[in-house]
Amino acid sequence: MRIHLFPILFITACLALFSCQYNVESVLYGSSDCPPIEATYQMHIAEIIENHCEGCHSGNNPSGGLLLTNYDHVVAASSYSGLADRIQLPLSDPNIMPPNGGLSACDTEALLNWVANGTPFE
Ligand code: HEC
Repeated sequence: MRIHLFPILFITACLALFSCQYNVESVLYGSSDCPPIEATYQMHIAEIIENHCEGCHSGNNPSGGLLLTNYDHVVAASSYSGLADRIQLPLSDPNIMPPNGGLSACDTEALLNWVANGTPFE
């Protein structure tokens, strides 16, 4: 009797682990799990741009000739340089920004909401 309990427990444990992983994945990739924020440049956008864009879009020779180092630059890029389009491209598109895999779903949503709300500073 005892000998049959082990495989059952083992399989149960595997199933439990698997379903946990599945849940984590749905949290990571679900789009409705982003915090509902009124994004402002000061509170949210500056940090996203600094962490994911400024490495290339700063300095004397910024990538694509595009500086993204202050509020005016980012607003201009969202009006004239297709910033919102670039961050929404599929991962397979070579024009996606940032080029190394895009932004997280929540960062993308924050930036798009910010643009849609008229790029508030604070
Ligand atoms: C690894 C370097 C790198 C990172 C990080 C990066 N970019 Fe770029 N970006 C480039 C390069 C190179 C170009 C020029 C080639 C092109 O247009 O795809 C470019 C071009 C652009 C353009 C088009 C400029 C124009 O006038 O046509 C926009 C808009 C842009 N990036 C926005 C962003 C945003 C927003 C982020 C962060 C979310 C970002 N980039 C992160 C390298 C980068």
